[in-house]
Amino acid sequence: MTGIPEHPPHPELIRVALMSDHPGLRDLFERSGMVRVVEAVPDVLVWCLPHDAEGLPSDVLAALADPGAPGVIVLGDGHPVRWFQEALRLGVDDVLCLPQTPQSLGMAAAKARAARARRIHAAPADGPAGGGHVFTVFSTKGGSGRTVIASNLAVCFAQAGLRTLLLDLDLHSGDCALVLGLAPRATLLDLVTGATAIDAGALGRAVTRHVTGADVLAAPARPEEEELVAVERLERLLETARAGYDAVVIDAASAFSPTTLLALDHTDTLLLVGAPDLPAVRSVRIALETLDLLELDLPDVRIVMNRAGADVGLETADIEATLRREIAYALPSDRAVPLSVNRGRAVVADDPRSPAARSLLGVSRSLVAAVGR
Ligand SMILES: Nc1ncnc2c1ncn2[C@@H]1O[C@H](COP(=O)(O)OP(=O)(O)OP(=O)(O)O)[C@@H](O)[C@H]1O
Ligand SMILES: [Mg+2]
Repeated sequence: MTGIPEHPPHPELIRVALMSDHPGLRDLFERSGMVRVVEAVPDVLVWCLPHDAEGLPSDVLAALADPGAPGVIVLGDGHPVRWFQEALRLGVDDVLCLPQTPQSLGMAAAKARAARARRIHAAPADGPAGGGHVFTVFSTKGGSGRTVIASNLAVCFAQAGLRTLLLDLDLHSGDCALVLGLAPRATLLDLVTGATAIDAGALGRAVTRHVTGADVLAAPARPEEEELVAVERLERLLETARAGYDAVVIDAASAFSPTTLLALDHTDTLLLVGAPDLPAVRSVRIALETLDLLELDLPDVRIVMNRAGADVGLETADIEATLRREIAYALPSDRAVPLSVNRGRAVVADDPRSPAARSLLGVSRSLVAAVGR
């Protein structure tokens, strides 16, 4: 069946331009639920070439020569492709042989867009070099403690004297402002849908200041507003945030959405949150595997076990063996956490002697030391 998405389309679709006519290709990309086929301002260009072509055509070569150009995917209409080695040598982001499933085309588009963002990021900037460190708190399971961890770390960083931004990228249901007792007058939506450019001034007007000095850029107020956020504008937001702050703490959504992929692409330290129960450990393992598949090459990934310490039959050593990774930090299960959330205060300020607060402060100190701030 054609024309019917296998997955509901995501609001922040990857903009793909098809540079060759190939029957059914548009439909295949769109059925991934991750892609919108466009004519203008693409994130990714896709060519389809005969597998026995002598080499890559000049328009592909021109796109590859420009570091600011969109990502490039080249599809071969059969196997083996004669131009495979040339494509790899010249930096094509992905080469695939048809037929492919909608999902693998969607993933290829995501990888190509991330690679493109990396290139742009690596290119020398015109403005002042942004020296901030981006921490992303992520897990693929909802309710794992991302918001508690991100908001408390931001408060600790600010208390340590760092210019800190807490960036709520849980665009569907972010509640960083709420758990810190803030009533934001503006949200990320005002910033990214505004007519003006996203720069330090516009960011400064959109944030809400916490009493510790941490700035909070709140998520859109209502779930349906997520659809109004264009992912292209978020790239600029992330660059502006890094340039203007010492520490940017991102509370990411619980899925590998286009927004999360973009955040990961700008991340220096990823805090992957799990818990000592089988489904949560499995979700951390799958998240690690997905990061490998996406070839995001994150420089620093640290696993945080939240609600650890309770005797629930899963030992740290067993979890580390399953994950084939060390657990960097273990945060205790502590009633002080929901109590502080319900008061709209960070637990590190609300009950600094509680086990959770001490532990979070320890994590923040270790992170500050590790990143040399
Ligand atoms: N270490 C802890 N001890 C006790 N309760 C905790 C702990 N960490 C988080 N919680 C509680 O778990 C709930 C979920 O935490 P939080 O909102 O931070 O998770 P999340 O991953 O951001 O969830 P969501 O998917 O809703 O965004 C909150 O009520 C919080 O108080
Ligand atoms: Mg949350």
